[in-house]
Amino acid sequence: MLSKFKASLAQGDSIIVEGPARVKVLKGIVEVFACPVGEGLELTVPLGKQAPVASVEGSELEVYSCSPPEHTKSNPIPESWRSLAEELAAQQKATCMVVGAPDSGKSSLTLFLSNTLAREGKTVGIVDSDIGQSDIGPPGVIGAAVLRAPAPSYSSISLLDGCFIGDKAPAGHLLQVVVGTYRMLDKCRQAGATHVIVNTSGMVYGGAARALKEAKIELIAPTHLAALEAQGELSHILKPIPKSVECIRLKVSEYARETGRSERIFLRESSMRKFLKDARRTTLNMDEVTLKQTILGTGRQLTEEDLSELRAQTRLSIQYAEESADYVLAVTDSGRAHERTMGGKPVKVVPRSAFSSLYIGLIGESTLLGVGILEHLDLARRTLAAKAALFKQGSISSVALGYLYLTEDGRELGRRKPGDF
Ligand SMILES: Nc1ncnc2c1ncn2[C@@H]1O[C@H](COP(=O)(O)OP(=O)(O)OP(=O)(O)O)[C@@H](O)[C@H]1O
Ligand SMILES: [Mg+2]
Repeated sequence: MLSKFKASLAQGDSIIVEGPARVKVLKGIVEVFACPVGEGLELTVPLGKQAPVASVEGSELEVYSCSPPEHTKSNPIPESWRSLAEELAAQQKATCMVVGAPDSGKSSLTLFLSNTLAREGKTVGIVDSDIGQSDIGPPGVIGAAVLRAPAPSYSSISLLDGCFIGDKAPAGHLLQVVVGTYRMLDKCRQAGATHVIVNTSGMVYGGAARALKEAKIELIAPTHLAALEAQGELSHILKPIPKSVECIRLKVSEYARETGRSERIFLRESSMRKFLKDARRTTLNMDEVTLKQTILGTGRQLTEEDLSELRAQTRLSIQYAEESADYVLAVTDSGRAHERTMGGKPVKVVPRSAFSSLYIGLIGESTLLGVGILEHLDLARRTLAAKAALFKQGSISSVALGYLYLTEDGRELGRRKPGDF
């Protein structure tokens, strides 16, 4: 239940508004992450996020939120954020990669930089490669957007294209995330962006995190790297950075706040629900689409005779099997997924049910058309039944199997391990 609060701000004053909230500007002009909002206009702050609202000139506001807005003692946008925005605006072209630990303000800085540049008349690309806490596009998708005017929040920025990974973290998909981030950067540039801000995941500790950051920097070759650091926690990431990249250490805003694990799941599920809202039942022919991120469909289907032999050898009720140079895939009626070896070749045994409820990406010739949930795999008819939520028109040429099991309304039920089947 939202309550109504009044706020009067003198020029230069700021308040922090906790989402979910609506802010009506009754008088004056305010700024949210460098996006101006004028008299008579409204802005919304999504649940789980907070927004610093700064008064450009004396302003009167009506705030509808759960708790009263907090008046800040200092400017929530650190001076170092403004200098970086100015430095980027002075360039004809720039690519700035934003790195930081979870909750360090990466999404906020990305929006602030993009808005400042858009206000300067630049065409700004945003690549959101933080697949676990996506700001642009559905969860599990590397999103790309192009901004020609400032936006008060991510919800008003539309998706240009996406690269479907289908998981909640980059672990197990490092190559795909690096390649996908580059592809989305390229899409932004093709759409005319002269300045691109690349947001990254908060994965900064451990071998996989180091490899991911190093490979991304290598491929993307940013002109600038913005490192949001509280107390030297990114030194190990920043030390191997090539000299050609201008590395700028930025202060974490004192108003940045933590998002708990359960709050993260809730935010991801809410976003997923929004994207799946208008999903429609669709049947796809397995011979007309390419399956991606799975070994299914990459082998030669076993004949009935070979199948009988495999059943006899494994004593499993195998419904369908296919063999490729490196694996045998055996889909059973029931039972649990496991791997065994036969004649020196690994056999992946997977129950048919393992394909149901999987999060999927629906891909056209060169762009992501939508996401959905795989409902049923009919291997006799060679069809896939899915609930598909398409955000773009086009003909589906491939289906990427994701790693999350979801309910129809986007709740997370479990996860398939990368490389499983
Ligand atoms: N300069 C700021 N002023 C006010 N609030 C801020 C500021 N920077 C961050 N926050 C708030 O702190 C929270 C975390 O910030 P943000 O979501 O930008 O971090 P993040 O690094 O992108 O997090 P994640 O790791 O979840 O992607 C958000 O609610 C955000 O609104
Ligand atoms: Mg973020």
